[in-house]
Amino acid sequence: MNSRVDIPVVLITGALTGIARATALAFARKGAKVVASGRHEGAGSALATELRTAGAEAEFVRADVRLEEDVRALVDATVKRFGRLDVAVNAAGTEGKPGPATEQTAESYAATFDTNVLGTILSMKHELRVMQAQGSGSIINISSTFGHEGGAGASIYAASKHAVEGLTKSVALEFGASGIRVNAVAPGPIQTPMLDRFTGSEDVKAYLATLNAQKRIGQPDEIARAVLYLASDDASFVTGHILNVDGGKSAS
Ligand SMILES: NC(=O)c1ccc[n+]([C@@H]2O[C@H](COP(=O)([O-])OP(=O)(O)OC[C@H]3O[C@@H](n4cnc5c(N)ncnc54)[C@H](OP(=O)(O)O)[C@@H]3O)[C@@H](O)[C@H]2O)c1
Repeated sequence: MNSRVDIPVVLITGALTGIARATALAFARKGAKVVASGRHEGAGSALATELRTAGAEAEFVRADVRLEEDVRALVDATVKRFGRLDVAVNAAGTEGKPGPATEQTAESYAATFDTNVLGTILSMKHELRVMQAQGSGSIINISSTFGHEGGAGASIYAASKHAVEGLTKSVALEFGASGIRVNAVAPGPIQTPMLDRFTGSEDVKAYLATLNAQKRIGQPDEIARAVLYLASDDASFVTGHILNVDGGKSAS
């Protein structure tokens, strides 16, 4: 987080479940001011209560990252409530429709790219608007090891995460001199609702665990801690970086 800011203001998209939820709770336990965003009001206000119990000033703001008006309003609501934006974690994502390339359609492409790629572009656009005026900020996009590897049965998802990594590096180059760092975390398989949907069975999940050096599925908290590092001043000279947090999967 930025050394000039005592209590950072953190915005997290897709925060109601999985990795982003764990990240919101981790920032809350550090005493950050947290805006958690997602598409469901009931779960959102329950999470805001949980974040306050964990020690944070926290709000839920409903937003679908595919819609620019939602994203604009989310960023504006963050600044209205907390006065600034120091850290943005763009985690909203979808696995799309797993299956071979021959089964993909224009619709499955759009459903995946609209959230994973357009959502990341729109989120960064509006986060940068605030961070540029401040002269500081840290953006962390959530990619995947499939963002720089092939993913058999997940070609559209892998392509969308390759785009997230290209965006991350490009925007880091564009805004580094403005005091803004832009990085991505690339998780390996992590125990979340998405992994359950993607694998569809414990057998497939167990097979995925064999593909990394530690021979296990990671936990959302292990990604959250990497995000906290990239958001912190400990990473003050780190930008345009894709941080694999994958139990060694990428080492092979
Ligand atoms: N779990 C893994 O193994 C793994 C590995 C590599 C990368 N990742 C990445 O990690 C990120 C978090 O995923 P996760 O594993 O924690 O799965 P998850 O629990 O399914 O989280 C994804 C979240 O994004 C939200 N979301 C989807 N579309 C949205 C939209 N258009 N606008 C706003 N929110 C939207 C979902 O909420 P709704 O209920 O509204 O759909 C959900 O809360 C994703 O970017 C994913 O690609 C996960």
